[in-house]
Amino acid sequence: MKQFKQSQLLSGLPDQFFAALTKKAAQYVSAGHDVINLGQGNPDQPTPEHIVASLKEAAERPDFHKYPPFQGQNFLKEAAAGFYKREYDVDLDPQTEIAILFGGKAGLVELPMCLMNPGEYMLVPDPGYPDYWSGAALAGVQMDYMPLVEENRFLPDYGDIGKARLERAKMLLLNYPNNPTGAQATRAFFDETVALAYEHNICVVHDFAYGGIGFDGQKPPSFLQSQGAKEVGVELYTLSKTYNMAGWRVAFLAGNPSVISAVNLLQDHMYVSLFSAIQQAAATALSGPQDCVRELSNRYEKRRNALVDACRSIGWDVTAPAGSFFAWLPVPKPYTSVQFSDLLLEKAHVVTAPGIGFGAHGEGYVRVGLLTEEARLQEAIRRIGRLGLFSAL
Ligand SMILES: Cc1ncc(COP(=O)(O)O)c(C=O)c1O
Repeated sequence: MKQFKQSQLLSGLPDQFFAALTKKAAQYVSAGHDVINLGQGNPDQPTPEHIVASLKEAAERPDFHKYPPFQGQNFLKEAAAGFYKREYDVDLDPQTEIAILFGGKAGLVELPMCLMNPGEYMLVPDPGYPDYWSGAALAGVQMDYMPLVEENRFLPDYGDIGKARLERAKMLLLNYPNNPTGAQATRAFFDETVALAYEHNICVVHDFAYGGIGFDGQKPPSFLQSQGAKEVGVELYTLSKTYNMAGWRVAFLAGNPSVISAVNLLQDHMYVSLFSAIQQAAATALSGPQDCVRELSNRYEKRRNALVDACRSIGWDVTAPAGSFFAWLPVPKPYTSVQFSDLLLEKAHVVTAPGIGFGAHGEGYVRVGLLTEEARLQEAIRRIGRLGLFSAL
């Protein structure tokens, strides 16, 4: 068998940091241990029934068995614009200000390729979602990290970046509610971001993957609600989390028309568009009843409360996340995040994601997903409590 060498482009891709952990966790499962996996980010609930029903009905339509139109169905773009008007009072032109994506991941990888040239700089959060790095590697662009630290509520401090770095930056990536820290942004922070982007000619990409999941009565703000946001950027909205549609691979990008047309151009060369029946079901999700979204957010909030209470009861001093379905828990001394995560797997059979896997400023934390029932979350923390690492209150 001939072995063909991978391209230089592929060899530049970042390592899959969490692959080793997933493998190790699988070994514990095959050895018969009751492993509680809190390390991943896969929604555990099914897609709401009315959305599945919409797909079934749409799958029967012969006109949907043909190629879909390039750049997607108008009805989905109109549903996306209607969703932004209803949820955020943001006006978007469905034709010029919405692009349909094969999931948020595709958009994140396409955007640097569409807007940047090799060697140019993109400001990215540290810690951050690792797909940002994949997009940078495939486009050959440099990443310039913005530390997210607890003292600044996990928001980047623009004052720290300095003029020279702002002048060379072409793109700025943000994500609130945040993966991995669970922090929320404020309208004031987004207003500041718009002013900064305007002054320095930077395209802002706000990844709003957890836009549907906010706690304590705080609906996460959209970047596009800030005055002038459309002039300087786009927001990426995936249906994966809000509607439990991670397997369906559907998302959209909303905002600045020049960015939308660049993404559409690349996609014209790479694909036609998504299966029209999926587009129909996605339109149903965005325009149909939204009780499912409130119920889902309440469910995660109850799980968050159960987890945080359990942590505090064993003496683990944690901050409650304000949104997303992740909690960002501090690692006790003297462990590193990898050592602590390994210890929890070996001794408590609990899988967590070591913070260092999300960037250098992720050290000192582990990420825990709220993607299992309250009783399992409590059981995980009880097991950790038995290790005697914290002094119970
Ligand atoms: C921060 C963030 N952005 C984007 C995504 C991508 O979601 P999808 O590709 O399912 O739309 C995820 C998924 O985990 C995420 O956590």
